[in-house]
Amino acid sequence: MLVYVSRYFNIIAPLLRRIIRKRYGYELAAKAYNGARPIYRQMLADFPSIGADNPMADNAYESLVFFAMYRAAAGELTPDMLRAVVGDLFDLPVVKGAIGLSGDLNRAADMRHMNELLRSRARWADEHPDEAPYSWDFNFGDSEDDTRVCYHFTRCPLNDFCREQDLLDVLPVMCEIDHVTVRLAHGRLTREHTLAQGGAFCDYLIEGDRGTVGGEVHTREDAIKGAYKALGDSATVYDAMMTCGTPLGVAMSWVVWLIGPRENAAYLEAAMSGVPEGFSGSLLEVPVGTGVLTMPLYRTLPEAQVTCLDYSPDMMAAARERAERDGLSNVSFVQGDVGALPFDDGSFDIVMSLNGFHAFPDKEAAYAETLRVLKPGGTFCGCFYVQGEIALTDGWIRRFHEPRGFFTPPYETAASLEERLRGMYSQVHVETHKSMACFVCVK
Ligand SMILES: C[S@@+](CC[C@H](N)C(=O)[O-])C[C@H]1O[C@@H](n2cnc3c(N)ncnc32)[C@H](O)[C@@H]1O
Repeated sequence: MLVYVSRYFNIIAPLLRRIIRKRYGYELAAKAYNGARPIYRQMLADFPSIGADNPMADNAYESLVFFAMYRAAAGELTPDMLRAVVGDLFDLPVVKGAIGLSGDLNRAADMRHMNELLRSRARWADEHPDEAPYSWDFNFGDSEDDTRVCYHFTRCPLNDFCREQDLLDVLPVMCEIDHVTVRLAHGRLTREHTLAQGGAFCDYLIEGDRGTVGGEVHTREDAIKGAYKALGDSATVYDAMMTCGTPLGVAMSWVVWLIGPRENAAYLEAAMSGVPEGFSGSLLEVPVGTGVLTMPLYRTLPEAQVTCLDYSPDMMAAARERAERDGLSNVSFVQGDVGALPFDDGSFDIVMSLNGFHAFPDKEAAYAETLRVLKPGGTFCGCFYVQGEIALTDGWIRRFHEPRGFFTPPYETAASLEERLRGMYSQVHVETHKSMACFVCVK
């Protein structure tokens, strides 16, 4: 069995209902949706015991939502109709954008992340002998490099479940989702066998869709730039999550951070509270990212001289566009590394850093550099993720953000951050909102 977790149903089922309603009418949509939740619960109870914290469990939780709605429709939704619904689902910009965040498989760094992600899932099974016999058994090929990943399963709990529950007719629709998700990450999946179609195994060969590795990546910094290139390309999804600006953004923020719109606004206000109203001095923001959080603030500070720095030209392109659109002639942009800031000692009245330190690869250099470029009496403020506050968030970071290069350990705890800042600055205020620590310090 798998324990009941509501978020998968709460996010996926309403989207499916909307698509079914559009394609096949209100009645079928209502029938498939209204009856599905108890079926979903029962299916989870009947599912092989793969472990709810199994990193592969998402696949089961998600697939069962489709199966539950299919079953609730009691034969009125055929496998081909479900296939069309799934096609529409993965065509939704929000879904495409969210999957697009997993990067570009033509890039060596992103392919390596994919490989490492899959191997970490296999390691989980090795470390959990009670659940492993029910879970996917990863067998990796030996012809891998940074251009491809190749593996096969001889056991798939979804296949075992569908055989027992007489759902084999819709299982191939789930297998097809693998092709779609790989395609959205600019990859190509080649497979010749599936358990669903009676084969002895499911095989996977994943390559970039351009057939070659588009940009060799040698350093951790380049890997980060690569990760944030994908984010820059999906800036609308990223921005929505950072601001809770759309229903998907609210859902993503809640699922990962347990932070809703009100608390989101509260932590951002605390993080930016080091910038006084009407501020007219010099301010360095590092990293600026897409500028979604700070360009609205800079609109209110026409007298300030603002310098924005980021490692990723792709993230910063979105910020630049925003500043140009808003006519912010007092805001300039510099591409660079926080660990080697191209500014003289004591250049800025304020240094602000929102959501940066959990991403920076060399955190010691980042702390030292942000302190160096600040004037005596200047303010250092901002926010970033700290571990040990919310276990759910820590899990997402470890399983999702880290393997993709968005976050880089080691992380501070709230206590270690406060202690560190007290050792560097004269006045220090730290407050946490869930896993987000906000700070204002005076040099
Ligand atoms: C999560 S984003 C935060 C962006 C923005 N401050 C926000 O809150 O939306 C992290 C940013 O850190 C940048 N970054 C990572 N390592 C960096 C480094 N060594 N120097 C400068 N920027 C870096 C990434 O390019 C990315 O834009």
